Amino acid sequence: MTRPFYVTTPIYYVNDVPHIGHAYTTVAGDALARWRRLWGDDVVYLTGTDEHGLKIQRAAEQNGVSPQEWTDRTAARFAETWKLLDISNDDFIRSTEPRHHNAVTQFLQAVYDAGDIELATYEGLYCVGCEGYYTEDELVDGDCPIHDRPVDHVVEENYFFKLSRYEQRLLDHYEEHPEAVQPASRRNEVLGFIRQGLRDFSMSRTSISWGVPLPWDPKHVAYVWFDALFNYCTAVGYGVDEEQFARYWPVDYHLVGKDILRFHAVYWPAMLMSAGLAPPKCVFAHGWLMVGGEKMSKTRANQIHPKDLVAEFGVDGYRYHFLADQRFGPDGEFSYESMVARYNADLANNFGNLASRVLNMATSYCGGVVPDARADGPLVGAAAAAFDGMSAAMERLDFAGGLFAVWELIRAANAYIEDRAPWALHKAGDATATAEVLGDCLEALRIVALLASPAIPAASAELWRRLGQSGRPDDERLPGAATWGLLPAGNSLDKGSPLFPRLDPQ
Ligand code: ME8
Ligand code: MG
Repeated sequence: MTRPFYVTTPIYYVNDVPHIGHAYTTVAGDALARWRRLWGDDVVYLTGTDEHGLKIQRAAEQNGVSPQEWTDRTAARFAETWKLLDISNDDFIRSTEPRHHNAVTQFLQAVYDAGDIELATYEGLYCVGCEGYYTEDELVDGDCPIHDRPVDHVVEENYFFKLSRYEQRLLDHYEEHPEAVQPASRRNEVLGFIRQGLRDFSMSRTSISWGVPLPWDPKHVAYVWFDALFNYCTAVGYGVDEEQFARYWPVDYHLVGKDILRFHAVYWPAMLMSAGLAPPKCVFAHGWLMVGGEKMSKTRANQIHPKDLVAEFGVDGYRYHFLADQRFGPDGEFSYESMVARYNADLANNFGNLASRVLNMATSYCGGVVPDARADGPLVGAAAAAFDGMSAAMERLDFAGGLFAVWELIRAANAYIEDRAPWALHKAGDATATAEVLGDCLEALRIVALLASPAIPAASAELWRRLGQSGRPDDERLPGAATWGLLPAGNSLDKGSPLFPRLDPQ
C-alpha cells in the first residue's frame, strides 16, 4: 500500500493577483510533492484561494463589482499562474465553493457542540490586511507590524472561540511533537506566544455578509480565518468521505510564510482539537521574499509578477532560482542581478554545458548511441552522494541544499571530462576509453535529470528524451531508479539545442 502524503500551501487572498511571494511557497510545495511522488507516495498537493472576509469585500467594492465576480476573476489568475509555473497541484480549492461551505458548516457545529463558542463583547485592534487582531504592544509606531498601516479600533458583540482553554494542551502537544513547527526558531516563537497566555478570539461577524453563516445563528458569518483554515480538511473529504479523510488527515506539511504562523500553529491546532480532530504533523514557516529591504506584498507597491520573470528565464529558470537561490526558512532579498548570475552559472554553464558537451561528443564519437562500455569510474560515488544529499535535504525541506548536492554531481562530471579529455582520447584512437568516459557522463546525466526533475521538470524531461529514454523522469521510482548504470546501451541520443541559453547580464 502506497504511503499517503498530504502537503498544502496557504489559500491565498484574492484581493489582488499573485506575485512571486505566493509563487515562492507554491513552487516549493510543488518540488516537495514531485519528490514524494518519485518515491511512490500517494500525494495530495493542495493549493487554492481564500475568498471571504472584509478585505475581499472591500476589494470588490473598490473595483465596482460583486464579491462573487471579483473572486471568480482573481481566482482564475491564481490558477493560470500555477499552470504557467508547471505546478502539479492535485486540487485547487476555493473557499466559496459549496463543498467548503458544507464542510465548514459541519465543523462550526462541532466546535459549538464542544462548548468552545460563547457570545461576548470584544473591544480591540484589528488589521484588515491580516484579518487579524493585535494588542497595543504588538504594534509598531501604532501600525500593524506586517502591513505598516494603521489598525482599526473595533467594538463588537460576537461569538468567541475559547482559545484560552487550549493553552496547556497546545504546550503539551508541542512538547511531545517538537517537529510539529519548523524551523526550530519558529517553534520557539510559537511556544513563547502560547506561554504569554492565550486570549479567546472573536470568530464571527455581523458587520459583513460575505462569509459562511453560523449554523446556530445565521445573522453572523464565520470570521474569515475560521473558515479559511478549514479548507485543508474540506479538500480531503471531511464530512463527506470518511475513508479519504482518515487516509490523508493529519496533513504532513502545511507550508506557510511566517506572517501566518500564529494562525496555523496556535489557532488552527486548537480549533482542530476542539472538533476532535488531530493537529497538523508539521507547520513549516518560511521567511519573506524582500525587495529593496521590504516584504513584497499586495498592499505595498513592490510586487513582481511571475510571468514577467518567466518571459526572461523560462519556467525552469524561474523555479530553479526560487528553490536553489533562496533558502527555505530565513528571509531572502530578491535581486534580478543575482538571478541572472546564478542562472548563467548553474543552468547555462554547469548543467547546460555538461548536457551539450556530452551529447555532442557521444554523437560524434560514439555514433549517436549510448556506448556499451562503462568505466564505473569516479562518478559512481558522486552519483550516490547526489542522491543521498538530495534525499537528506528534502527531509528538512532544504531545497537549496538538495539541489547543491545534485549540482556537485554535475561539477564532478564536468571535472571528469576536463581530466580525461575524451576529445584527445578519440583523437588518439582510444575508442574504448572514449566510450567509457562518455558512457559514465551519460549515466550521470540520467541521474541528474531524475534528481533535478522535482525542481526543473520540463528541462529534466527534455534531457531524459535526449538520452533516448522513453516516458519522463516523473514515471521513475526511487530509490531503485537512482542506481548507477541503468541507462541502456544502444539508446539513441539527440543532441538538441541548448537547454538553458545564456542570458546577457545587461
Ligand atoms: O495570508 N515572501 O493569504 P495571502 C514569501 N489567505 N512568501 C510570501 C510573500 C513574500 N513576500 N508574500 C506572500 C493569507 N507570501 C491567507 C492565508 S491559509 C488558511 C489563509 C506567501 O494572500 C506566503 O506563503 O496574504 C504567505 O504566508 C502567503 O503567501 C500569504 O498569502
Ligand atoms: Mg498577506
